[in-house]
Amino acid sequence: MDNIRRVASEAIQKIKNSDDKVLESIKFEYLGKNGILTKILKSLSHYSIEDRKKIGFEANKIKTILASEIKKKERCIKRDLLAKKIRREKLNCSSIFCFPFSKGSFHPIVQTIQDMILAFKLLGFSLADGPEIETDWYNFEALNIPENHPAKDMQDTFYLDGTKSLLRTHTSPGQIRVMEKQKPPIKVVVPGRVYRNETSDASHSSTFHQIEGLEVDKNVTFLGLKMILTKFIHNFFCCKLDIRFRPSHFQFTEPSAEVDIQCLFCKGKGCKICKNSGWIEMLGCGMVHPNVLRSVNYDSEVYTGYAFGIGVERITMLKYKIDDIRLFYENDLRFLRQF
Ligand code: PHE
Repeated sequence: MDNIRRVASEAIQKIKNSDDKVLESIKFEYLGKNGILTKILKSLSHYSIEDRKKIGFEANKIKTILASEIKKKERCIKRDLLAKKIRREKLNCSSIFCFPFSKGSFHPIVQTIQDMILAFKLLGFSLADGPEIETDWYNFEALNIPENHPAKDMQDTFYLDGTKSLLRTHTSPGQIRVMEKQKPPIKVVVPGRVYRNETSDASHSSTFHQIEGLEVDKNVTFLGLKMILTKFIHNFFCCKLDIRFRPSHFQFTEPSAEVDIQCLFCKGKGCKICKNSGWIEMLGCGMVHPNVLRSVNYDSEVYTGYAFGIGVERITMLKYKIDDIRLFYENDLRFLRQF
């Protein structure tokens, strides 16, 4: 299974960096008659029925993902070729709305969210979303955050005047909304925008993005959580980084941890960005607190789960070595055009 997923991340990276000629050979290499995935599917007879099912399912899923990524890239390439052709022919486009006009690109935060969703899909997660305007119940109470908790303070949370609503301070209410609608097994990621009542500086913003992850089933363990996050980080950054789990506290998980990755700026040697520690904090996680399971009427004696929340801006800053979060919101084209 690991092998298949490695093949998939590798292929996706190759597709992204390809041009029309290379794309054809990538298609051949992975999806062709003697392609890597076809070979995997052909070799299924060597495995037990149980493994055959698992591997076959995974390989077919990845085949579909790769085919759709290739299609997307083909469309991009076609559009670029057309734009180039028109530019070469020097057509007079002044009276009609057509190419070439600047085609624009996705915002780096949107790109990161798309990349993260894809990486989690490869690890078997599905996708859900939830509203940005939430109630006290979803944002706090169902998550085991009591009445007098500092996060509920006006200083930290934006409340909407004259209503009982607020702007969600994290994507964790997404966990509650998914569990309310579905019974286990659950394996889902919930991306979205979140709000905190705080002053902006180089590493803080009152609006930012997170991706929440949740798995609930019988026998979900902390080891499972460590495996998933380690695989995600290695796939997402496309290299083997050092990772550490540090004990921490969140009301809705027990035990809780924060995950640090080796500083990409100095490769762990210590620099200004990692405050000389060699580590950069990346996400919060833990085992879902039994009170949270009980708040959605799950039997906490039967089911266990893990959850994690990843800051999208943070991970984008790490990936592209950006040192000021405000750059994402200023819409300066000199910055945005680099993505
Ligand atoms: N919601 C937490 C935050 O915003 C992150 C988190 C999510 C921690 C899930 C543990 C489990 O900081």
